[in-house]
Amino acid sequence: MGVKNICCIGAGYVGGPTMAIIAQKCPQINITVVDINESRIAAWNDKDLSNLPIFEPGLSDVVKEVRGRNLFFSTDVDEAIDKSELIFISVNTPTKTYGKGKGMAADLKYIELCARQIARVSKSDKIVVEKSTLPVRTASAIKSILDNTGNGVQFQILSNPEFLAEGTAVQDLVSPDRVLIGGDNTSKEGKNAINTLVDIYAHWVPKEQILTTNVWSSELSKLTANAFLAQRVSSINAMSEICEKTGADVNEVAKAIGMDSRIGPKFLKASIGFGGSCFQKDILNLVYIAKSYGLYEAANYWEQVIIMNDHQKQRFSDNIVKTLYNTVSGKKITFLGWAFKKDTNDTRESAAINVADNLLSEQANISVYDPKVIPERIYADLDYLNTRYPEENKELLSVVKDPYEACQDSHCVAILTEWDEFKEYDWKRIYNGMKKPAFIFDGRGILNKNELESIGFVYYKIGSGE
Ligand code: UDX
Ligand code: UDX
Repeated sequence: MGVKNICCIGAGYVGGPTMAIIAQKCPQINITVVDINESRIAAWNDKDLSNLPIFEPGLSDVVKEVRGRNLFFSTDVDEAIDKSELIFISVNTPTKTYGKGKGMAADLKYIELCARQIARVSKSDKIVVEKSTLPVRTASAIKSILDNTGNGVQFQILSNPEFLAEGTAVQDLVSPDRVLIGGDNTSKEGKNAINTLVDIYAHWVPKEQILTTNVWSSELSKLTANAFLAQRVSSINAMSEICEKTGADVNEVAKAIGMDSRIGPKFLKASIGFGGSCFQKDILNLVYIAKSYGLYEAANYWEQVIIMNDHQKQRFSDNIVKTLYNTVSGKKITFLGWAFKKDTNDTRESAAINVADNLLSEQANISVYDPKVIPERIYADLDYLNTRYPEENKELLSVVKDPYEACQDSHCVAILTEWDEFKEYDWKRIYNGMKKPAFIFDGRGILNKNELESIGFVYYKIGSGE
C-alpha cells in the first residue's frame, strides 16, 4: 500500500523545494511541510509568490501549481506527524558553537528534538527519513530515541540525503543524477520501508538511478560527495595562486585539464573560496568523525581543504589592500554580490562575509549591491562574526539598491558573486564615476579583461598572472 500522507519537518532551502517537487510529481499524496518558525510558514503561504522565503529559479511556478492542492505549509507539527505515514526530517544541523566538538561537530540538538516529538505524538507505525546531512551513525541515535520514548509503535529509519545545489534546486530535483536511499536492508520491515520511499521517487526518477544501500553508506556518501566537490574547488584555488605568480591563467589551465575525461570540466572555477551551508560544515564534520576514531592523517588531509579555502579569502582581501597602496582606511570599496553564489539569496558561509570583515578591519568603507540579498541579512552576517559592534558595521558598510550608485566615487570594485547581470553593466559609466586609478578585483573571473582595460580600469582577475 502506498503512502497517502507525508510530513516534512523543516521548511528551509532543502525541505521547501524538495516537498514542492514530490507534491508536483505525486498528486495523490498529501504533503504538509511544518516549521517552528511562524514567519517562515507565513511567507510560504503568502498569496504574493514573490514573497516566498526562498528564492530559487522555477520554484514559485511549482508552488503555485501544488500549494493548497496537495502541498500545505503549517506550524502545527503534532498534527502533521500524527496523520503521516512517512516523515522527513529536514531541520538544520549547524556546526556546534559550544562544548565538545565546538567549531567542528554537527549540532544535533534539533534532530533529537524532532525525534522526541515524533516519538511522543505517534500512535501508528511510521517511516522516519533523515533528509538533513548528518554524521554517519546518527540514525542509530534517532532509532534509540524513537524506540525508547515512543508509545510502542514501530519506526523504520531511512537516510535519503539531498544532493540539490542552491540556484538549481528545481532542476536538480526534477532530474537528479541519482537518488540515494539507505535503510535496514537486513530485515523485512526495513526492506519494505526502503521500497516505500523508492516507489515515491519512481514516479519521476528512472529506477536505475535510485540507489539503495545500508544506512551508514548513505549517511557517509553525502559527506563524501560534498568533501570531494569542495576539494576540487580548493585544488583549483591552490592552482590559482600559482597561476598568478607564473603568468598562467587559471581558466585556461582549468579548461585544459577539464577536457581530460578522467578529470572532467565541473567544479574547476577558481573563486574567492567556496561558501554555502554545506561544504564547510560537512568537511568539519568529517574531520571531527575521523579524529574521534583516532584517524589523524585522514582528519588532517580533509582539514587542509578548509585551510586552503580560508587562505583564498584572506589572500583576496590582502591583495586589495596591497594594490590600493597598502591603505584602504577611509576609502570606498564596492562589493558587487554578497550571496555565496549566483541565483540564490542564501549567504551562509559566503566568502564575501570574511572578505568584508578583513577590509572593515582596515577601516575601509564598503558599499554593497546584491540583486537578491536584503540589507538585514548582510548586517546579520557581519554582526555574527563579533569582530566589532553592530553600530560600527552599520557605519562602515552601506547596502545600496542601485549598482551604479554603489560604484560612485569608489576606489575599487570587487566581484564577490558571479551574478550574470554584472556582465551587462555599462562599465564605461561606472568607470567615469569612480576615483582614479579605478581598480576591479574580479573574484569570480567573469568579466572581460580586454574591454575593461580599454576603458581604463586596472583589472585583476583571480588566478591570472599579467
Ligand atoms: C538543512 C540542513 O542544514 C542541511 O544539513 C541539510 O543537508 C538540509 O537541511 P536547509 O534546508 O538549508 O538545510 O536549512 P534551513 O533553511 O535552515 O531550514 C531548516 C528549517 O528547520 C528552518 O526553517 C527551521 O526553522 C526549521 N526547524 C529547525 C524546525 O522546524 N524545528 C526545529 O527543531 C529546528
Ligand atoms: C552543495 C552541493 O553541490 C550539493 O550537492 C549539496 O547537496 C549541498 O552543497 P550548494 O552549497 O548549493 O550545493 O552549492 P554549490 O553549487 O555546490 O557551490 C558551493 C560553493 O562552491 C559556492 O560558493 C560556489 O561558488 C563554489 N564553487 C563551485 C566554486 O568556487 N567553483 C566551482 O567550480 C564550483
